[in-house]
Amino acid sequence: MTNRSARPARQALAVLAATLSAAVSLPAQGAVDPTTGRQLHDKTCVACHVQRYGGDGSKIYLRADRMIHSRAALDRRVATCSAMTNAGWLPDDEANVAEYLATRYYKVGAPAGKK
Ligand code: HEC
Repeated sequence: MTNRSARPARQALAVLAATLSAAVSLPAQGAVDPTTGRQLHDKTCVACHVQRYGGDGSKIYLRADRMIHSRAALDRRVATCSAMTNAGWLPDDEANVAEYLATRYYKVGAPAGKK
């Protein structure tokens, strides 16, 4: 194989590597992102809640006898549910979803040791 024919493949690999590292470096910046959390939540979690509670499913978070009353409990519940659904979420993904639910519904503030 000549060097000339190998070059496009190498360039394509370089572009792929750059794209991948950009995608991977986003959550590594450390900022919790409720917008990403919302997307993950809507993709993986909402359908089942809607099935049981109707509407947009948010009633499950707002009902009078809800289970979650603290940020610690919310963090644990999100971790449990992500494991239960085999979502393949990383800790950053769980943090983003917990932040989304905390700010939009539960109003329970930041996790212990942050902010
Ligand atoms: C297969 C159905 C199903 C899926 C999928 C599901 N949930 Fe749930 N979730 C439930 C049910 C049912 C309850 C209520 C349990 C109860 O009332 O005892 C619940 C409760 C919750 C609660 C607590 C609500 C409260 O009472 O305050 C949270 C938070 C929650 N789910 C988050 C998630 C997240 C995050 C995901 C996605 C990773 C998810 N759930 C996926 C069925 C589901």
